[in-house]
Amino acid sequence: MDFISRFKERARSNKKTIVLPEGLELRTLKAANIVLEEGIANLSIIGNPAKIREEAEKENLFHLLEKAKIIDPTNHEKLESYAKIVYDLRKHKGVTFDKAIELVKNPLYLGVTMIKAGDADGEVAGAQNTTGDVLRPGFQLIKTIPGVSIVSGIFIMVLKDKEFGDDGVMLFADCAVNPDPDEHQLAEIAIATALTAKNLLGMKPRVGMLSFSTKGSANHPHVDKVANATRIAHELNPDLNIDGELQLDAAIIPEVAAKKAPGSEIAGKANVLIFPTLQAGNIAYKLVQRFAHADAYGPVLQGLAAPINDLSRGCFVHDIVNLIAITANQAIDKE
Ligand code: ACO
Repeated sequence: MDFISRFKERARSNKKTIVLPEGLELRTLKAANIVLEEGIANLSIIGNPAKIREEAEKENLFHLLEKAKIIDPTNHEKLESYAKIVYDLRKHKGVTFDKAIELVKNPLYLGVTMIKAGDADGEVAGAQNTTGDVLRPGFQLIKTIPGVSIVSGIFIMVLKDKEFGDDGVMLFADCAVNPDPDEHQLAEIAIATALTAKNLLGMKPRVGMLSFSTKGSANHPHVDKVANATRIAHELNPDLNIDGELQLDAAIIPEVAAKKAPGSEIAGKANVLIFPTLQAGNIAYKLVQRFAHADAYGPVLQGLAAPINDLSRGCFVHDIVNLIAITANQAIDKE
């Protein structure tokens, strides 16, 4: 069984409530109908109820009409109590109660506030809104897991070539959030991604810290950042299987690893790739997706105290269904 089918099955056996703030977005509504038909999660959809119902009737989305909870962001019985939550969490940043009322009328803030209030277990958005707009309410209200300082975003890459990673499955990070992590942040991203590989996918992580240099073949502050991050990650987590700095070929091709990084336990067989910057990570996952026709699932965010995941605005209906299943699994893992 492929891992998405496994995620769906696990989600069905312990149903979570996922909130979808982009209720006026057609792909989201079609995905919601499939999720409800397949029993993957309970759904709360935010948006004008009359418009959502009209669209759903036009598209024959009967499961949505029957089973989704639809919430009008400007008019529901919890508006004031949700605003109080936002006010309490953000008053130190100058947010007044009136501003909090205004914020919770914004579906992206409302969705996150519902999680904070215990009325939802996770959120999926981003088919319509930018990554920054989806992430900011989560950063401000949900915050990071205690002991974690930054949120980062992974892609689960499923390659056609099963020789790489674990039967073709690899994790790439950070591809979504932190434009230029420092060495401590990069170490934290590596540790978090290894944990995601283990907990969410049941993998034994072998982490390659990528650079344009392998084991000192080049001298540059950018190379030092990756080498230092590798050392810090190892100090923070001595059991972590990690090596760097490695060039991509040294990380994934055994013959190249034998020449460039002899004796490394990771080089040549990395299944988790950590990129030095967001530019590198974001470009890399799209290159592999487009040129190698890999499936890319994500970005799946890690480090937040509750699962919130962001879609690409170019996503397809099945991407939304899959990300809802992944989010439901993260919510189960959080229990
Ligand atoms: N982890 C945890 N918290 C964070 C992080 C982080 N990585 N970054 C910012 N925050 C918190 C801040 O501490 C702050 O909290 P506070 O208000 O309680 O003090 C809050 O978020 C806002 O911080 P700002 O510094 O004002 O952050 P800003 O909103 O300017 O930027 C953002 C955050 C939007 C995520 C920014 O880093 C960004 O735009 N990243 C790139 C996103 C992107 O475009 N990705 C590529 C596309 S994704 C794809 O292709 C699939």
